[in-house]
Amino acid sequence: MGAVPDHGEAARVVPTANRFDRREHPLNPDPIWPSVILETDRLVLRAFTADDVDDVYRAANDPVTQRWVPLPEPGRRPYTRSDAEEWCTVIAPHMRASGDGQQWAVVIRDTGEFAGAFGLVRTLWRARTTEIGYWTAPWVRGKGVATEAVAVIARWALLEQSFERVEIKAATANTASRRVAEKTGFLYEGTERSAMPLHEGRVDLAVYGLVRADLTHSDS
Ligand SMILES: CC(C)(COP(=O)(O)OP(=O)(O)OC[C@H]1O[C@@H](n2cnc3c(N)ncnc32)[C@H](O)[C@@H]1OP(=O)(O)O)[C@@H](O)C(=O)NCCC(=O)NCCS
Repeated sequence: MGAVPDHGEAARVVPTANRFDRREHPLNPDPIWPSVILETDRLVLRAFTADDVDDVYRAANDPVTQRWVPLPEPGRRPYTRSDAEEWCTVIAPHMRASGDGQQWAVVIRDTGEFAGAFGLVRTLWRARTTEIGYWTAPWVRGKGVATEAVAVIARWALLEQSFERVEIKAATANTASRRVAEKTGFLYEGTERSAMPLHEGRVDLAVYGLVRADLTHSDS
């Protein structure tokens, strides 16, 4: 296994006020992720706000984003400003409240520039497994932002939230995303056939996994 990059992130986890708590979801049997800001030397991962709408609208309409992430939903295009508003103010905040995951807007620490959307999705609380999904803004690509953000999220989930396994699933032809998984120490475990609908049709997904032992062994 490749070394798991440690950007010095684990120590800097800032709890934030919970916008939602379980009392709003009495029928939800699952816990919810704690609301936190994650930080690395270069990045801040914080909750989406209405101020992110313009950046999300622009980045989500990028052809490469649209090729690999079927926003707002498979086969429905274009991605409108109203889709971006709904993402920033309703969908992303609700994901935490539902227990399914947590979404972060990634910004460059020094400039405050919006850099992408990263999140945990499809969390299985009993199995203590979850999945990282992401896209970066086209104006920051190729600078290691995705690698750095994925690394801090995976380490937080495995080392500080007692999760056992984090997955990344990328279309088999999505070389950049697969490279991000490999660079962050995830192991390729196999391919799920016809596993995801994109705008242009269904694709196979390359499955990558990182388990807690991968980190604790590489840290020792
Ligand atoms: C995948 C994505 C998030 C990567 O973001 P990023 O910030 O540019 O990623 P990084 O800079 O950390 O690393 C990207 C790696 O992929 C490589 N890469 C980028 N584009 C590539 C391409 N077309 N073919 C091959 N490798 C590519 C880079 O060279 C780099 O690897 P290296 O450091 O070994 O050179 C970004 O390209 C993106 O948002 N794509 C569209 C949405 C998407 O695919 N999301 C993931 C869905 S699973």
